[in-house]
Amino acid sequence: MSSHPEVPRHIAIIMDGNGRWAKERGLPRLEGHRSGAESVREVMEACIELGVEYLTLYAFSSENWSRPEAEVNALMALLDRFLDEKAKDLDRQQVRLLAIGQLDRLPESTRALIERIKTRTADHKAMTLVLALSYGGREEIVSAARSLASDAAAGKISPEAIDSDLFASRLQTAGIPDPDLLIRTSGEMRVSNFLLWQISYAEIVIVKKFWPDFRQGDLFETIKEYQRRHRRFGAL
Ligand code: FPP
Repeated sequence: MSSHPEVPRHIAIIMDGNGRWAKERGLPRLEGHRSGAESVREVMEACIELGVEYLTLYAFSSENWSRPEAEVNALMALLDRFLDEKAKDLDRQQVRLLAIGQLDRLPESTRALIERIKTRTADHKAMTLVLALSYGGREEIVSAARSLASDAAAGKISPEAIDSDLFASRLQTAGIPDPDLLIRTSGEMRVSNFLLWQISYAEIVIVKKFWPDFRQGDLFETIKEYQRRHRRFGAL
């Protein structure tokens, strides 16, 4: 597959099913997450090759904090390792890293690593990788509403000035185009608090496979499905 005008500019993925993948094999859940990190590497490579401009991955939701402490710690350690190993690749691949979510809830080491890589990759142009970490769509919307309310209360803006564009500019995704394609693996038909505002017009493709089994070929299939659909943005 070569770059094509119909290649989605922004792909967002809910990477679901790591735990079930591991369970099916009698392995600890962490093995599922490890293998899921491999899928991340493959999908990133494919997106760069295809000319996808933005790839947003739901790596850790606000709800994930309520998982057993050992799993949360293991996921954070995996994320640290991924970022540490990826730092050089991101330079080589000219990928810019961004992160959205309540990052202040992350361990200090993870936050520092993200900050360092963000600064280092800020000018890269091949693709933007957006990691959603400790992310919740409702929390993001509430925070935008709070920031606008506070400006209105201080007399900096009038309530009438609040429109979609101004609202979107207070989201953490300000400046990032909305996703064209939302992929969710493991067959679940839910949005699970992911990019609630931003996916208004996204094509949603649900894939039955668990995330660790989702590799380059599966990504090509979802893009083909996306291309088959007629995109009308609600117009007749
Ligand atoms: C969902 O599977 C996946 C997660 C909660 C974490 C996703 C993390 C990775 C793919 C690896 C690390 C991330 C990066 C960016 C390297 P689940 O545990 O909810 O699976 P289940 O629904 O089958 O239990």
